[in-house]
This record gives sequence, C-alpha cells and structure tokens, in this order.
Amino acid sequence: MTDSEALKYGMVGGGPGSLIGEVHRKAAKFDDKAEVVSGVFSRSYDKTLRLGQELNLEEERLYEDFEEMAEKEGSRTDGIDFVSIVVPNKFHYPAAKAFLTRGINVVCDKPLTVTLDEARDLEKLTRENDLLFGVTYVYSGYPMVKQARKLVQSGELGEIRVIQGEYPQEWLAAPVEKEGNKQAEWRMDPELSGKVNCVGDIGTHIENTVSYISNLEIDSIAANLSAFGKGRKLDDNAEMMVRFSSGATGSFWCSQVAVGHDNGLKVRVYGTKGSVVWEQENPNYLEVSHLHEPKNTLSKGRDDLHSSAEDAARLPGGHPEGFYEAFSNIYSNYLDALRDKKEGKEVDPEDYDYPDVKEGVRGVRFIETCLESSERNSEWVEMG
Ligand SMILES: NC(=O)c1ccc[n+]([C@@H]2O[C@H](COP(=O)([O-])OP(=O)(O)OC[C@H]3O[C@@H](n4cnc5c(N)ncnc54)[C@H](O)[C@@H]3O)[C@@H](O)[C@H]2O)c1
Repeated sequence: MTDSEALKYGMVGGGPGSLIGEVHRKAAKFDDKAEVVSGVFSRSYDKTLRLGQELNLEEERLYEDFEEMAEKEGSRTDGIDFVSIVVPNKFHYPAAKAFLTRGINVVCDKPLTVTLDEARDLEKLTRENDLLFGVTYVYSGYPMVKQARKLVQSGELGEIRVIQGEYPQEWLAAPVEKEGNKQAEWRMDPELSGKVNCVGDIGTHIENTVSYISNLEIDSIAANLSAFGKGRKLDDNAEMMVRFSSGATGSFWCSQVAVGHDNGLKVRVYGTKGSVVWEQENPNYLEVSHLHEPKNTLSKGRDDLHSSAEDAARLPGGHPEGFYEAFSNIYSNYLDALRDKKEGKEVDPEDYDYPDVKEGVRGVRFIETCLESSERNSEWVEMG
C-alpha cells in the first residue's frame, strides 16, 4: 500500500517522553495501512510543534488543543479518517466525544473513560454517528491468546470451571510519583486517573483478556482494593473474587507493589477436559493440558495453530514477537474494518477481531463494580 492509499490519522497525546503514544504510532504504521498527519501531542503547543516537526507533519495540522483539532480536521475535505487518543484517562471522554460528534472515527486507549455514564455516552455517539471505535486492549492481539480462545470455543477444554488471572508489577512499590515519574504522577492523581488507579490501569487488562479467551460473562465480583503507598488516594493493589454467569468461578489479582515482578500478566483457564496457561512475559508459548495426558507447550510459528493465531503471527517459530506486534494486530484489524467501511461495505466490528467500544464500556463496568464492592467491605456486587 502506498502512503496515498493509507488511511490518515491524527493523535491526541503521545508527546515527547510519553509511554504509549509512540507504541501506537509504530503499531499503526507496522503494516503501512495508516499514516499520521496531524496532532495535539501535549498540552504544551511547543512540544506539539517539536514532535510534529520530527514526524514531518504540516504545521497547519498541529493544534493547540483537541477541540480545535476535531473542529478543523472535521471541516477539511482531506480531514483525518480517525484519531488515536493516548492521553491520561480523564481526557479520553472529552477528546473522543469531540471527534465522534464531528463524524471522525476513534481509537482510544483503556480504560475507556473514568465513569460508566461517559462510557455509555461514547457507545451511543459511535452508534448514532455510524462510526468505528477501537479500544487498545492489546493482549487480545497476541497469537497464543487467540489460540487459547479457539481452544475454549471448540470445546476442547470442556466446560470452563475456574479462571485465574494475575497482573503483578513492581514499579509503584516506591513512591515514584513524588520523585518525578510522570506516568506515576497522573496515575496517582484522582483528577487525571479517575476513581481508581491499579484496577483501571492493569486490572482491566485481566478482565479483557479473560473475557476474550473464555467468552464468559461476569455475573458478580467481591473485591478488595488497597493503597499501600503512604498518602496515596488511589489503589496500588487489588484482589477480586469473580462469579461468572455460567457458574464458573475465578479470582483476579493486580498489583503495582509486587516487588520482583515486571509485567506479569498471566491467565489460567481450567475446564472439565483440559486447561490453558498464557503468560505475557513468555507470550509465544501456550501451555495446554488434557485430562490424564502429558502437558503440552504449543509454540507460535512451529506448531499447527488455528488460522486466527497463525494470521496474527508475523515471524517463523523461535523468533520472539511481543507487544509491538500484538498492538499492530489490533490496529491492522481495526484499519481493515475502516478501509472496508470507507469503500462502502457493510461492517460489523465482531467480524474484524478488534476490541471495540462495547468492550471499553464493559471494562468500565468491571472497574466500577470492583470499586463499589471494595467500598462495601468486599460484598458481592452484580456487574449488571
Ligand atoms: N494499552 C496498553 O497496554 C497501555 C499501556 C500504557 C498506557 N496505556 C494508556 O494510555 C494512556 C496514556 O498513558 P501513558 O502512560 O502513555 O501516559 P504518559 O503520561 O506517558 O503520556 C501522556 C501524554 O499525553 C499528553 N497529554 C496530557 N494531557 C493532554 C491533553 N489534554 N491534550 C493533549 N495531550 C495531552 C502528555 O503531554 C503526554 O505526552 C492512559 O490512558 C493509559 O491507561 C495503555
């Protein structure tokens, strides 16, 4: 695909020194299906200009704020096809709303919003304006997560009984938000992060990955959120017991004070006939067990996998793939949907295998249910 055929997008956030913005830019570019042409990368216009120049963007398409960008891009005949929103959580809603109401498609990072009302409003605006909305729950982009999903779907594991999900990290074990760590500063500030930190930052990834693999609906949650760091207003650790509507049960643990862990997302799914175990830090392998049989380890690129997993793998066996490739898989599927829609085809996001606004809303429901339960002394609360 040439640059002139690539879909054009703008970015809100992702300025110099930020974490995920550059990952989005690389992921969107990975298959040459999209090209960044505009942006407001920071609240500082100077920083937006500086990064815009590095990216060779036209100055007239670099803006002071996202309202101006939405208005001006929305009125150009060559305006952007979509916007990527990679700002602190608080700004997801106003930014996404500004673009949706001007008829511009949206990709937004998680958690979708800081309240459920906002999330539902974005879902409504997406539907009313007939737009496509992607939410970058990256872990569903990994080949072996797709394989796990297919093993559950095919019935090979039998009826799912128990699901364990954990996501331990160490990086907030010390008070780094007081020591100049920008990412920690806003995450620990309720004005920017929302009503939770850890559950919204990484707990929501457990929920999404479990849901993607198992397709089970959470019925109710009993949660315990803690803030171990001195003076913290928001959680840095949480445990949740989970009941699924099917009768399956599970427990999730997310922590940013778990000394010794880098980014230890791990999901274990146990059925009547078998089980799967997937770990983010060893993502190209999937442990698969069948009752009364020796344990197997499936290898991406080497073993026969379901086509959805094979298609998501980009390299031969033994060549490690990870975060960038998974992120680019999310973008690639979203961009295929957008391209087809632009060409006049009927598009149902379900057919394109990317997380959409529905999953974003469910993620916020999960977060609010955890918080409510914890505030009610860990009572069971229906997820609704
Ligand atoms: N999907 C994932 O795996 C993943 C990973 C990391 C972060 N995230 C999410 O991405 C978002 C950003 O997180 P981060 O760690 O990259 O944050 P960050 O602090 O590293 O970067 C935020 C960027 O947004 C800019 N910004 C802030 N307010 C702005 C505004 N009003 N307008 C324009 N730019 C503005 C900042 O200048 C900065 O460049 C968060 O919602 C976070 O939850 C998702």
